[in-house]
Amino acid sequence: MRAVLTAGPTLEPIDPVRFLSNRSSGRQGYALAEALAALGIEVTLVSGPTALNDPPGVATVRVETAREMLAAVEDALPADVFIAVAAVADWRPAEPSGVKLKLDKSGIGALKLVENPDILRTIAALPPGARPRLVAGFAAETHDMLVHARDKRLRKGADWIFANDVSGDVMGGTHNTLTLITPDGETRFGPAPKDEIARQIAQALHGALAR
Ligand code: C5P
Repeated sequence: MRAVLTAGPTLEPIDPVRFLSNRSSGRQGYALAEALAALGIEVTLVSGPTALNDPPGVATVRVETAREMLAAVEDALPADVFIAVAAVADWRPAEPSGVKLKLDKSGIGALKLVENPDILRTIAALPPGARPRLVAGFAAETHDMLVHARDKRLRKGADWIFANDVSGDVMGGTHNTLTLITPDGETRFGPAPKDEIARQIAQALHGALAR
């Protein structure tokens, strides 16, 4: 059984010294990669920049941008399951500057952004045969969590969505609470430490794949 995961933030260069990014620590994705490997699953983790060590027993590929992350995921396929845990930057500077930008109308003040590829949606839309049997994503929401997460599952073409209430200190924190949304129903995990949540959802993924 093979799994491919994304984790962490992406980093989108503005110029040689600046970038766009977010507060994802990568902890939940790394913990999930480790928990899946502990169940005997062959795991490739495609990670944006984090302060974490590579999880034991996991092939870890380090990338910076969303486009590099998508390419590394495609390289790591085929797999039985793809799990998008990364907090991918939705936007990137259209043309990163080769020199440090100045604070005027031709520089930072005129920064143009373009949309990044949606990795989860791209993998979920692969044709049968190339598409992993189970495609799962995370929905980090600060309000109306379940409504947004149910909608996200359908819009992204994912089989499963883990809805994640990030209104507290989840991003960068040690604990988490998740609601798993599948076509068959909804299950709550936690509140618990992220590695405990990871063990529980790894079991759920393993169980679904073994069926
Ligand atoms: O739309 P939103 O960013 O909230 O969706 C979250 C889910 O989609 C996560 O599973 C995330 O890893 C994935 N995603 C992605 N590529 C993007 C944006 C989000 O894979 N560009």
